[in-house]
Parts: sequence; structure tokens; C-alpha cells
Amino acid sequence: MSKRQIKLGLSMRQLGYHAGGWRHPAVPADGAMRIAHFAHIAQTAERGLFDMVFLADGLGLRQRDNPPGSLARSDRNVELEPLTMLAALAMVTSHIGLVATASTSYNEPFHIARKFASIDHISGGRAGWNIVTSWSEEEAWNFNRDRHFDYDERYDRAAEFVEVTKGLWDSWDQDAFVRDKAEGLFFRPDGLHVLNHAGPHFQVRGPLTVERPVQGYPVLVQAGSSEAGQEIAAASADVCFVAHTDLGDAQAYYRSVKSKLARHGRDEDALKILPGLLAIVAPTEAEARNKYEELQALIHPLVGLAHVYGPMGDLSAYPIDGPVPVPNDPQHRSRAKVLLDMAARNNWTIRDLYLAASMGRGHRTVIGTPGQVADAMQEWVDGRGADGFNIIPATLPGGIEDFVDLVVPELQDRGVYRTVYEGATLRENLGVPRPASRHA
Ligand SMILES: Cc1cc2nc3c(=O)[nH]c(=O)nc-3n(C[C@H](O)[C@H](O)[C@H](O)COP(=O)(O)O)c2cc1C
Repeated sequence: MSKRQIKLGLSMRQLGYHAGGWRHPAVPADGAMRIAHFAHIAQTAERGLFDMVFLADGLGLRQRDNPPGSLARSDRNVELEPLTMLAALAMVTSHIGLVATASTSYNEPFHIARKFASIDHISGGRAGWNIVTSWSEEEAWNFNRDRHFDYDERYDRAAEFVEVTKGLWDSWDQDAFVRDKAEGLFFRPDGLHVLNHAGPHFQVRGPLTVERPVQGYPVLVQAGSSEAGQEIAAASADVCFVAHTDLGDAQAYYRSVKSKLARHGRDEDALKILPGLLAIVAPTEAEARNKYEELQALIHPLVGLAHVYGPMGDLSAYPIDGPVPVPNDPQHRSRAKVLLDMAARNNWTIRDLYLAASMGRGHRTVIGTPGQVADAMQEWVDGRGADGFNIIPATLPGGIEDFVDLVVPELQDRGVYRTVYEGATLRENLGVPRPASRHA
């Protein structure tokens, strides 16, 4: 029996995921605003035959200055707009998929259908859309609202949004444009389908002013794990991006989402589930450990305290190397209790607490040799907790360079990862079907 193959995405936002990473000597601190930074990262991931690069996004500065002084010490404040960036990356790569996040709460379906169809044409069929509903008040404040939509409303809107967007992508048959100069006929009239959508959230006439995307629809990615999120994934998504630290949780989610596919007439393999994986890798375990310690030492205490502010409140008045106090802010009781229990069990100081809390941010973390990282990946893929991983580098570009140079050859030696791209489009490489038009 052939071994289960591993799919790989790279989450390449800003300067990497580590809260102190921007201060590392090998990290270009202005990189998040420079296209050359991202071009090098995407080309490195392509050298490593990654299925796709992935850009997370938010529509506002979501981080607050809690405790005061923390915001000015964080690099998570400015970056290039993802879709604009994908157009540029399409021109300097040839095979890797290009996925950007866009919100169904603060866009109109026509915008999204048009832009992603354009990226799909510009890249020759490598575009993907990570469908999110946004989650913060800070984003609402940038779009004429005092409050974010409540949960049911935003998922309701998201479901209709995705249907309208797909309808717009089906505006033109793939072969509608005959461009027959002799006859003077530009397109076949029966190849045009005007959407005429009227629903609770959207009224959209259509048609789209871009030809049907090369891939039929760009690859649809869903990030989020609630029941409503899983329903959208089962109905429409080709890829799910999730955060799990425990194999049991990953398996339960994997079973739950995959079991919903049949109801939509879809095959289990038609949806790939990719948990995030933060890997710090080096030729020896000791070197990997050193890299990790070096990064942890770069977290400014105020930035560290910002990571535990939600559950624990403001701890900035307490000695950083003293014991962890019981918080008087009861906002996130359950999360505070988890942290307090861990602190008590391990005899942690406040510094130990934030160092632990800021690592991985909900994603699985592996620190070790290429063999250890490959073992960790195969355990989850063979255990049906994942179809692959969205690699979350601690720093960029170092995190992806290390992964491609050290882990990719190890996976290839084990026969669980490609040695050449199988296809030309993202759908072909992921092994997910090309959707037919509703008018076919
Ligand atoms: C792995 C992962 C990545 C996410 N990336 C983004 C993102 O880039 N932008 C965003 O606005 N929300 C992002 N989200 C938030 C989700 O879209 C969603 O709002 C959140 O998970 C809550 O929804 P749920 O209750 O369905 O899980 C992400 C969530 C997960 C789990």
C-alpha cells in the first residue's frame, strides 16, 4: 500500500509567528512592508514544493495597547494588503498556490468574485480564498459599524456570500469567448448566465466581468471550527485550516468534518484538513533547543504580558520574576484557571507563564531534528488527524529556509512527500476536484 502523502501550506504573514522574532538579527524588521521579503519566502516554499502559501488577515489593528506600552513593542501593526501582494507573487512564482484571507462581513460578493477570479487568471490557476467572517470590534469600527455582527448573522451572511460568489464565477461558460474575428462574434450568447440573485443579505444581478476562473472556482479554504464553520467547510471548502495541539482533538475534528461531506455528495478526499504546525528545526536537538531559547529571550516583557492580558488582566505592576498572582479580572475564568493551574504545577514566575503562553498560539509546536519533525507529522497524518499541515514559521524567512532545507528532504526520503509538482494548478496539486459550472 502506498504511504499517505503529506500536503503542505506555509502561513507567511509578516515576520513569522514568534512574538519576539522581529528582533532577531536574521529577521528584516521592515519585511512586512517589502514585496522582496515575501517574494523570497514564496520562492523558497516553491523550491520546497509546497502546495501553497497562505496569508492570514484582519481588517484593522485588532491588538489593543494592553498593558500600556505593549503595542509599540509589537511588529503586528502594518503589512501589505494580501490580494495586492498575491498578484505580485504570481509573477515571481510558477507552481505554488497563492491563498489570501478575505472577510465575508466587510466585503461584497462581487468584489471578492472579481478579485479572486483575476488572481486565478494572473497566476494560471493557483488562487485560493480563505473564507473568514472576521471577529473583532476593531474591524467593525473601520466599516461604519459600532459593533461586529453577532454570530448567527455573520454565519448566515457568510453562507449566502459564498453561494453568490460561486454564482458569479459561473457567469460565463469556460468556452464562452470565441473571439471570432471573421464572424465578428466575441462570445457565444448562450455562454452567458446572468445571476439575478435576491436573498436576505444580498441582491446581485451579475454577470461577473471576468472570465470563469481557470480552476472553475479558486480553491476555497475555511478557518474556524464551530458547527456553523464546519457546515460551510463541508458544503464548500477544499481545505480546512485549523489549530489543534492534541492528536485526539485533531482526530475528532477530522472525523466530524469528513463525515459531513457525504451529505453534500462529496468524496472524503475532496477536502484537505491542515492543522497549523510550528516547527523549530535544526540538525541536532540541542541546536533546535538553542534556537528556541534565543527567540524566547527576545520577547519584551510588555509584549509577553499582552499575551496573557485577556485571561489574567494587567500583571505589569507585579515583579516579572516573582510568583503568578490570582487575577482580579474575571473575564476569561476558564482560560485563567488553566494558566493558574499550570503555573502552580510548574512553579512558574510571571515570565515563565508568558513565555509558555506566547508560544504557538494554539498551534502544535515541535522543536527538534528533521527526523523528529517528520515523525510528528507522520503520526498525525497516519493517525487520520490531518491530511498535511499549514507550516507556521517562528521567524521569516529563516523558518521556511530551515524547513525546506532540512525537513522536506527527510519527508521525501520517507516517500511521504512529492519530488515534483504533479500539476499546474493548485487544485491539481492538492488533488481536489475542479467544480463544474451550475449551468454545465
Ligand atoms: C487556524 C485559524 C486561522 C484563522 N485565520 C483567520 C484570519 O486570517 N483572519 C480572520 O479574520 N479570522 C481568522 N480565523 C478566525 C475564524 O475565521 C473564525 O472567526 C474563528 O475561528 C471563530 O469562528 P468559529 O467559532 O467558527 O471557530 C482563523 C481561525 C483559525 C482556527
